[in-house]
Amino acid sequence: MSSLLIHNIGVLATPEGVEARRGEAQGKLRVLEKAWIYTENGEIISYGTGNPPVTFGEKLDAGGRLVTPGLVDAHTHLIFGGWRQNELAMKIRNVPYLDILAAGGGILSTVKATHAATEDELTAKASAALDEMLVFGTTTCEAKSGYGLCPDEELKQLRVIRRLNKEHPMDVAATFMGAHALPPAYKENREGYLRLLCEEMIPAVAKEQLASFCDVFCETGVFTAEESRRILECGREYGLIPKIHADEIDPIGGSQLAGEIGAISAEHLIVCPEDGIDSMARGGTIACLLPATSFYLNSTYAPARRMIEKGVPVALASDYNPGSCPCLNLQLVMNIACLKYRLTPEEVLTGVTLNAAAAIGMADKVGSIDRAKQADLVIWDAPDLNYLCYRLGSNLVHTVIKKGEIKHG
Ligand code: NIG
Ligand code: FE
Repeated sequence: MSSLLIHNIGVLATPEGVEARRGEAQGKLRVLEKAWIYTENGEIISYGTGNPPVTFGEKLDAGGRLVTPGLVDAHTHLIFGGWRQNELAMKIRNVPYLDILAAGGGILSTVKATHAATEDELTAKASAALDEMLVFGTTTCEAKSGYGLCPDEELKQLRVIRRLNKEHPMDVAATFMGAHALPPAYKENREGYLRLLCEEMIPAVAKEQLASFCDVFCETGVFTAEESRRILECGREYGLIPKIHADEIDPIGGSQLAGEIGAISAEHLIVCPEDGIDSMARGGTIACLLPATSFYLNSTYAPARRMIEKGVPVALASDYNPGSCPCLNLQLVMNIACLKYRLTPEEVLTGVTLNAAAAIGMADKVGSIDRAKQADLVIWDAPDLNYLCYRLGSNLVHTVIKKGEIKHG
């Protein structure tokens, strides 16, 4: 048996429980001063304040620092070939994201680079990104396919995710996103691609148990709300839980659909209308917001405060991808969420831990410092949570602990 006692914690801050927190509860944390946490075999056994219990295993002095749950990044496009630094000059000239895509660039150029890469190459590249995420305090993440857009290539991406789960300490939840763009060969045959998705790709993904979730880019020029409904309902028949990229650029009904079909999460929501928020509140959908993407696209910011007011749980994620957000640093996401969404540090911490875990169906295992959860923890070079959200541009991680083992620091 391996055990670890973390003692001399200045402040322990965590949301509580195994479900997403909404409304006022999103901003309520358990905050303990002069605390300790005891873990065995990768699991949290107990925590408390004052004198720690007498234990015989490994001990770690937190030096009076802040300790939180490991961060959870609930939205990434982790598996891709190449980069798109050539788009920066176009961005600076204000060429719109959807225009770059319509001209065969954007997502479609990453599709080419991803096709050209072998499974080994994609695994090595994604594994290096996971290493970097750990260094910034992320201990669990989600990853989507979507740069394949044909059966073999989508399965290749998902097999990389499966391999990463075996080879890398990070837990990676897998999402099938064959509906990320319409492949150019189907430009005049949308129905043909929808049938390929529903009749070949989704059944193949389910048969190999390669993903837990199905996601669609519901956007002008990509997939309509009705097409998105069809794909997500088909996915659900095969056991894939629906997620949806909604209202990122144009509000074409994605958030309303998310609530209607009870999607576990809706992503982006930059231009989410009131009735979309209402629909998500009714459907129990988590708003998975990506503030670093708003920053990167120089767009407006999702109405996060309104969502909290209306009882929609808010999760915060990076959207790490080679186009609209080549950033995997959740600390920066936390800063932007405070400054642009006007969320409090407490609401933000819940957004990058428990609510993010709930958005990927893992809130029973990770996302809070509770008994019987995985011992995924971060010791921060910060005296308290305000400091963590206030400093900008530094990596404040001191030590990262994954399943009771020190992985960094
Ligand atoms: O979430 N919006 C769609 N997909 C990604 C971007 C992917 C890309 O540009 O390569 C996103 O922003
Ligand atoms: Fe995305």
